[in-house]
Amino acid sequence: MAKQVLDFLRMRDGFVSGEEISRELGISRSAVWKHIAHLRAGGYVIEAVPHLGYKIITIPDKLLPDEVSYNLNTKVIGKKIFYYDTLTSTMDVAFDLGLKGSPEGTVVFAESQTKGRGRMGRSWFSPKNKGIYFSFILRPEFLPQEAPKVTLMAAVSIAEAIKKLTGLSVLIKWPNDIMAGGKKLSGILTELNAEADKIKFINIGVGVNVNVSKSFLPKEGTSLKEELKREVSRIDLAKEILRSIEENYLSLKKDGFKPILEKWKAASFILGRRIEIRSHDKIIQGEAQDIDLDGALLVRRDTGFIEKVLSGDVINIR
Ligand code: BTN
Repeated sequence: MAKQVLDFLRMRDGFVSGEEISRELGISRSAVWKHIAHLRAGGYVIEAVPHLGYKIITIPDKLLPDEVSYNLNTKVIGKKIFYYDTLTSTMDVAFDLGLKGSPEGTVVFAESQTKGRGRMGRSWFSPKNKGIYFSFILRPEFLPQEAPKVTLMAAVSIAEAIKKLTGLSVLIKWPNDIMAGGKKLSGILTELNAEADKIKFINIGVGVNVNVSKSFLPKEGTSLKEELKREVSRIDLAKEILRSIEENYLSLKKDGFKPILEKWKAASFILGRRIEIRSHDKIIQGEAQDIDLDGALLVRRDTGFIEKVLSGDVINIR
């Protein structure tokens, strides 16, 4: 019911009397007061003026499900949202939910993570209320080896959402690092639960450095605040990212991988450049030539041989 009171207050620009809320929602005046107190305790600043009523002054800077889902307008992604103040990692909770049969599009947000993890055994620094840290579950009817398509789709979606909301143009470093000014702004981690010939679910984790100040960032990292010299609403960005994932995911299922791949290539940070990749303890050097329809990177070695790299880490770019 607190959500209904919140939505009712949101609908209006000015003050709404307790009497009107009570009448419209069919609850007592004291129940209205109780819900307002509950919202205030959650961080909403609500002004109360005698004879005028209540008005929302500020909403909390938290990725609360009520805020993220307000006017989200998606059909799949974010239909179910879980929210935690602190978690070890959103990956753990989402994986558990996946095993328990939680539907496709389920999202798990945390304001901070104590064991945020990145690719290749790295950790993901997750300071409280400064970034966006979430995992979401997809259940595509794909073969396990097609999982990279979904990861690249997520990278394209995040790049598009950042551009749309902030105007900042970002690039993608294979396979899915989002880069701004040559530094890493966002990372994506994919975990798979699959049988030999079928994906049961994919758990995709997204970390975005939003309002993280320079002194808290690793030297190879950046944040939106650093790039734009202003703070960005995490709620607005989270909503834009979920909408963008939905649009690209539905397109991936309907039209196949090619349109996503084209967008990915257009935003590529490495194609045409000389790179060095670490892949399964092997170092591969050459020119990043293309990405194929499996999402694999094609590297042209100095011998002319084209090597197909399915997973790895670009460690040097020239
Ligand atoms: C990388 O670039 O190495 C991937 C980083 C992924 C970080 C996100 S934050 C939310 C989710 N939970 C985690 O523990 N990791 C991912």
